[in-house]
Amino acid sequence: MHTDTSKKVYFHTFGCQMNVYDTGKMRAQLAADGFVETEAPEEADLVLLNTCSIREKAVDKMLSNLGEHRRRKREGQKVTIGIAGCVAQERGEELMARFPDVDLVFGPDGVPVVSDLVAAAMKGERVIDTDFLDLDNYPFVDQVDPSVHGVSSFVTIQKGCDNKCTFCIVPSTRGVEVSRPAEAIVQETRDLVERGVKDIVLIGQNVNSYGLKQSGCPTFAQLLYLVADVPGVERIRYTTSHPRDMGDDVVQAYRDLPQLTSHLHLPVQSGSNKILRRMKRYYTREHFLEVVAKLKDARPDLVLTTDIIVGFADESEEDFEQTMTLLDEVGFVGSFSFKYSPRPGTPALKMAWSVPAEVASERLTRYQTRQRELSLAWHRSLEGQQVDILIEGPSRHDEGVICGRTSTHVMVNVPGDLALVGQTVRAKVTRGFTHSTRGELV
Ligand code: 5AD
Ligand code: SF4
Repeated sequence: MHTDTSKKVYFHTFGCQMNVYDTGKMRAQLAADGFVETEAPEEADLVLLNTCSIREKAVDKMLSNLGEHRRRKREGQKVTIGIAGCVAQERGEELMARFPDVDLVFGPDGVPVVSDLVAAAMKGERVIDTDFLDLDNYPFVDQVDPSVHGVSSFVTIQKGCDNKCTFCIVPSTRGVEVSRPAEAIVQETRDLVERGVKDIVLIGQNVNSYGLKQSGCPTFAQLLYLVADVPGVERIRYTTSHPRDMGDDVVQAYRDLPQLTSHLHLPVQSGSNKILRRMKRYYTREHFLEVVAKLKDARPDLVLTTDIIVGFADESEEDFEQTMTLLDEVGFVGSFSFKYSPRPGTPALKMAWSVPAEVASERLTRYQTRQRELSLAWHRSLEGQQVDILIEGPSRHDEGVICGRTSTHVMVNVPGDLALVGQTVRAKVTRGFTHSTRGELV
């Protein structure tokens, strides 16, 4: 009889697309070491939490999840517990001191060397690695995440961030910006297309500054053309871009490249110039609107989504109103909106403070209520229209229903066969909801 002697690894990923991607790269390397992934933490030999510290809430969620793994270990499960990602980078020593049953702690720069770190920890050593890697020849991992089988995939184009937005912990957890060589990005894109991927999402903390520090490296706009040249790439998206760095060459790409989708996520954070200054975003509301106007001129059907922080520093009612009016003026079709959460070591901690928690909560509710109205109105405006959708997979809720997206990233659920996954088909939208639409194939 065959007995399964391979080691099992359980991953839990918190936070942003970069963490999702990093987990995939760890999955690839550990699979090569003979690990098999499991969905059941109680049968894992290795538990790896890839953590996020962007807001206090994300950290709390991770700590409570860690508690469950530690409990199972106390109750006798033989398991190596590792904490990766941004919380590990920021609070590595503290985690090791506070949780004696945690075996391994490493930051985002530990991802390329995860095999060695895990091997040491599984031998019984307690391992902590929060050093940043050498920036010359940064070892971006080229192996493709073995679990990618969908229609879309992330491809990283840079690591780290050189911006110093005063609210943000990322520069300290992910270190300085390094661009990945364009050949590696194009090669990974080819590998993914070979596996059936049609929709490439280029990711980085500030994609617009791609290549600017390295001589001989293409710019972000040039990179878009290179990726568009890969046969089989039907859609290109990217995140996250910075409004200050949105150059005319990227705007031009919206005229030239049909593969670039008609949806852009462009975080504005606030509509008030005073608050934008406090955030050190280095653009004004007027500049942001100008960028949006140029983009819409280049691509008339472009829709935008954004990130908003409310209750930052001394945000007054008038400042917040500026955010509300910007929401309407741009007509964002969706937002990720947050109450400001003070983060350790960030410049904002030293700023004058004045927004009480209840006021911030109330502003967030007002913002989100208005955003929901706009999202619903946008989806309703599509009722009766025919759209082309790239089918991604089964609907999460209904049997016999498949789910696709328009170039504007609208989710359309249609009755249909899973054989259509990966194909672009025409559908008629019959009903718009806040977060998605329903339709039928035509
Ligand atoms: N508090 C609240 N939101 C934050 N973000 C980043 N840092 C903080 C913070 N300290 C938000 C920003 C960013 C998104 C990823 O998270 O809006 O664009
Ligand atoms: Fe969270 Fe930022 Fe780290 Fe992503 S980069 S995991 S959002 S702290």
